[in-house]
Amino acid sequence: MNPRDDVIHLRRGGTTVILDLSTAPLPSFVHWGADLGPLPPAALSSLAVAARPQRVSGGLDATPRLTLLPTEAAGWMFTPALEGHRDGAGSSILFSLVSVSSDEHAVSLELADVEAGLTARIDLSLGVAGLLTQRVTLRNTGDTTFTVDRLQAVFPLPWEATEILDTTGHHLRERAPQRRALAIGTHLRESRRGRPGADATVLLAAGRPGFGFETGQVHGLHVAWSGNHRVLAERTSNGDAFLAGGELFQPGEVVLAPGEEISTPPVMGSWGEGLSALSYRFHDEWRARPQHPSRPRPITLNTWEAVYFDHDLRRLTALADAAAEVGVERFVLDDGWFLGRRDDTAGLGDWLVDPIVWPEGLHPLVDHVRGLGMEFGLWVEPEMVNPDSELARSHPEWILRGRADLPPSARQQQVLNLAHPGAYRYIAERLHALLEEYPIAYLKWDHNRDLVDAAAGPGGAARVHATTLALYRLLDELKAAHPALEIESCASGGARVDLGILDRTDRIWTSDSLDPLERLPNQRYTGLVVPPEMMGAHLTTPHLHTSGRTVDLELSAAVALIGHFGIEWDLTGTDPAARARIAKWVDYAKSLRDVIATGRPVHVDGTDPGVDVRGVVAADVSRAMFTIVQTVTDAAWPPGRVRMPGLDDDRLYRVAVSSLTGGQGAGQSPLEWATSDTVLTGRQLSIVGLRPMVQQPQQAIVVDVTAAD
Ligand code: DGJ
Repeated sequence: MNPRDDVIHLRRGGTTVILDLSTAPLPSFVHWGADLGPLPPAALSSLAVAARPQRVSGGLDATPRLTLLPTEAAGWMFTPALEGHRDGAGSSILFSLVSVSSDEHAVSLELADVEAGLTARIDLSLGVAGLLTQRVTLRNTGDTTFTVDRLQAVFPLPWEATEILDTTGHHLRERAPQRRALAIGTHLRESRRGRPGADATVLLAAGRPGFGFETGQVHGLHVAWSGNHRVLAERTSNGDAFLAGGELFQPGEVVLAPGEEISTPPVMGSWGEGLSALSYRFHDEWRARPQHPSRPRPITLNTWEAVYFDHDLRRLTALADAAAEVGVERFVLDDGWFLGRRDDTAGLGDWLVDPIVWPEGLHPLVDHVRGLGMEFGLWVEPEMVNPDSELARSHPEWILRGRADLPPSARQQQVLNLAHPGAYRYIAERLHALLEEYPIAYLKWDHNRDLVDAAAGPGGAARVHATTLALYRLLDELKAAHPALEIESCASGGARVDLGILDRTDRIWTSDSLDPLERLPNQRYTGLVVPPEMMGAHLTTPHLHTSGRTVDLELSAAVALIGHFGIEWDLTGTDPAARARIAKWVDYAKSLRDVIATGRPVHVDGTDPGVDVRGVVAADVSRAMFTIVQTVTDAAWPPGRVRMPGLDDDRLYRVAVSSLTGGQGAGQSPLEWATSDTVLTGRQLSIVGLRPMVQQPQQAIVVDVTAAD
């Protein structure tokens, strides 16, 4: 219970939130961030009073300040949280607080604007790890329709948060970081692709200048939504700074009839001393969900880069044999198995096994795979349709379009209007039928194009909001009907990475780039929000398909370790010696996967841009694994010492280079610590560190750290 009626105090998982309920017209944020400890009523009052701004010349008589759901009619002249109208009129919205209910971890505030015919509810809750989630629900209580242009949740930033980090990218390079200063004004990131997109920011973070993974206070926001959305960071000329986020509605997309309501997706805010601490709140929160995948992540082989569209039973059974030989546990048949799908120009929508390529159906392959003791997985792309397909020919009205012509083509495909009951029924029926006919343990659910002009038909209303909800419904129904089914969210690699889809699926395909050097930043920044066991990471051929580079098997394998480990490679072309090396990596990944799934990823802020140090520390800090990758040459050769933080300061740990990597190159001597029994405390490893061993650029070593006591 709250000690005072006019101040809300939430506290959990190292986070404190304080709201001042006495400010007009709506409650104001006093604090979101570091735990302030137990606070007596007098302290809460003083904090609330200390946060109140003064009146200044040239401004309103009551200086506007950041409240929950700020609107223009309340005097807020910065980005509002809500905008809408009734056919061009009725855009003035001024809520007042009607009621509050709260406990130690959550508060629900009911707001009303009788004159505008609107009510709203704001639900704020602190999760187990101190992640702050907000949802705003708007209801039309008027007697005409209300068009919602914007509805978003706001989170206060400390005034010192003047540096922004977000991510951008493209196919093969998702979640590349970028930084800039946050000055007075708005930094806005929008996803207008009907999926977050390869260029979406997985997190919008703002912190003290120079914040890194290990140090510097930083706050960040994620919108758990798989359609269009918006996040922004803003610093006002009245001394407020904030993050805000919500869905991005297209014109006229959300029109509330009398009595109807709409909610924002969960908008999640985290903070930490350093980005790692910020990310742990997301990871811990996610792992605490009942549906979080808890069994050991099966080592997966995906056929895409091994055979592409060349589906041939003999070739695929040989691949399955090789996969089983190296210890693979799940075999996933990728694109190319369904009607007319000989390349990427045709077939999407016709989810029937192609009788020419698979005269006996998929049974011979599925039986073979399962006979080898592996699970079977299948690729699908249910939201898509090729104009060259039976589906498009028989139901052109199911294709999303805003005008008579189809929207611009992408990968020769268009998008189905899953919100159309007929289209939904057809896709659901096909998927259920496949899952009933075959023992499919896993669907790789792809989504290979951005949505543009995604409307219900010529001159029709935009449909991104409705198709996103239909997708969620379909995933939920499939999971309910097939409780053991796991689903991977893929979208041209990692173009749909968000906690909306990840609440209904079991992992993401992090990127189509299997180049380990490109994967290093991709996995590091995806991990700001996504726990490592949910990030697909595959060992691949040394001759990389996407970048043309040639790298060592060891580099490819080491980089895939901190993720859901798999293989994407035509193993039938490898010799027994290579397969034996791969099998050792698979064994090692199996020995590490519990640590990955329950432990803490560690990213070390280094000084040498060419040396990447990261690791994972077991939840009980008894064990850790670090990878050290020399990506390019640095000014220093050999490189300087690297630190390995995250262990128990006072415990002793034995440090050893894994026999899977290591060995010095020509002209190099071995490192003394690697050839002797080296024992250091967690504090020594974290503060002093040791000399890394690398042979030449583009090589990795794996360091095992085990408690010596
Ligand atoms: C894009 C995915 O990211 C790939 O892994 C593969 O599944 C192809 N689509 C298949 O078309």
